[in-house]
Order: sequence, then structure tokens, then C-alpha cells
Amino acid sequence: MQWNENNGDTGVRREPCTVRIAITRDVSPAIARCELTHLAREPIDLDRARAEHTEYEKRLADLGCDVQALPAEPDLPDSVFVEDAAVVLPELAIITRPGAESRRPETASIAEALAPYRTMIAIEAPGTIDGGDVLVVDRTVYIGRSERTNENAIAQFRAALAPHGYTVIPVTLSGCLHLKSAVGLVGPGTLLINRDWADASAFDGLRMIDVDPGEPRAACALLVGDTVVYPAGFDRTRARLTRAGIRAVVVPVSELAKAESGVTCCSLIFDT
Ligand code: GLY
Repeated sequence: MQWNENNGDTGVRREPCTVRIAITRDVSPAIARCELTHLAREPIDLDRARAEHTEYEKRLADLGCDVQALPAEPDLPDSVFVEDAAVVLPELAIITRPGAESRRPETASIAEALAPYRTMIAIEAPGTIDGGDVLVVDRTVYIGRSERTNENAIAQFRAALAPHGYTVIPVTLSGCLHLKSAVGLVGPGTLLINRDWADASAFDGLRMIDVDPGEPRAACALLVGDTVVYPAGFDRTRARLTRAGIRAVVVPVSELAKAESGVTCCSLIFDT
């Protein structure tokens, strides 16, 4: 082995090292004032919500993520749901313009956190879109037409992503907040789906596993590597995942779910 006397270079070529980052944000003390669309308001136990969030971050760390937790935003009730503020792809990040006006101030600090890792563009008015409505499967970007996401924002996504070789496919939703309330990516080309909430014809060509009919909220799942982070309480649908050969690790969500969230909402995961 040759040593470079001047700078200590060993002459050994190293492979570039990929780090999987998970951006999260601590639960806001104002979470009781969160936006609700399809759920009735129930009291949220803040300490339990924080404990659930800590468990979630531990699962991500166990799965190899470098968890970068942003401090809580005292005046932004939904700000723990960082997924809605941005969509991160290998080539760029798109900062959203959330559909609920109360959530628009959440994006500035997320853009700041992403700045070291990606070039960014931002969705402009009159476009509105929540990251929870965007599901990426290889080079296809499915976008839910929801109460939060409009056609103008879908057109802005299409224009921004076409040069990078992505196809954008809109998906009609009914009865749920976001696309990812109805459809989760659980393996390569494999979806977990509630067909009552999302038009399954949009996903022709992909493998689909249906949620158990008695568990309509069971489709939201977060794929990290080859493991699914999955909410507690949906045992029958989880058994379907197991039968399909999909490994799931369970997280408690009873309090955070009262804020109309799912397991994808609480992180932005990407590789450096
Ligand atoms: N509470 C989550 C949302 O409505 O955005």
C-alpha cells in the first residue's frame, strides 16, 4: 500500500457511502387543535402521543435511518406530520403548498432541513398539495385528487418531474384524507390498498394486497428498505402481509391517529 506523505491519503478507493436520513419533528404541544376532515375530534393525550412518536423514531433508527429530529413547533398543531411539507426524490425535493392554510407555515423549516441534501423547487399558488397525496413507485408518481391537492399542483408536479423521466398519474379518492391513507407501498411493485377509498384502476400492472374489509384504515404503511413500519391495531391486515411474505414491525399509534395521521406522515425518508 502506498501512503501519500503529504495528506495522509492511503490510496485506497472508497465506495461513496449512502446514508438513509429520516427527518422527523417533535409533536407540537398544540396538536389538540389539529386539522380534521373525516374524523370527529377526540381528546389527545400529549404525553402518550410523544411516547408513540419516540417509539416510531426508534423503529426508524433500528432500520438503519439517521433520524434528524426537528424541534417542536408550539404554534403549528399538525407540524409533526412532516411528510406533507415536501416530496423528496433522488434528483430533487419539491416543497409543497399544503391544502390547509394552517399548515402552510410548516414548509419553511422543512426546506431548511432539506437544503444540504437536494436542490429544491416549490409549488406555487394556486396549486395546493400535501405530501401525503404523493406515492412514488419507481419512476411513476401517483397523486391523489383530494380535498388538499388540486389539479394545478398536479400539473406543476408533472412539469417539474417530466425532465427527470417520471410519469405522473392522478388517482381519484373518496372517503379518506390522503392517497397514502388508502394505499401503501409494501414491497417492490406491491401495494396495500383500500379499494373503497382509491380507484384501483390507476395501479394496473402493480401487485395489490387488499386490506381486511373490517379494517378500512389499515392501508397506510411505511416501507423502509425491505421492512414495513406498520400501525398497531390492524391484526387481520397484518396477517395478510405476513402471508404475502412481507415483514412488518409494529408501532403504537392510538393518540397520533386521532389527529388523522398514518405511519408515513411522521417522517421524510431519503438516501443521501
Ligand atoms: N391532521 C392532519 C391533517 O389534517 O393534515
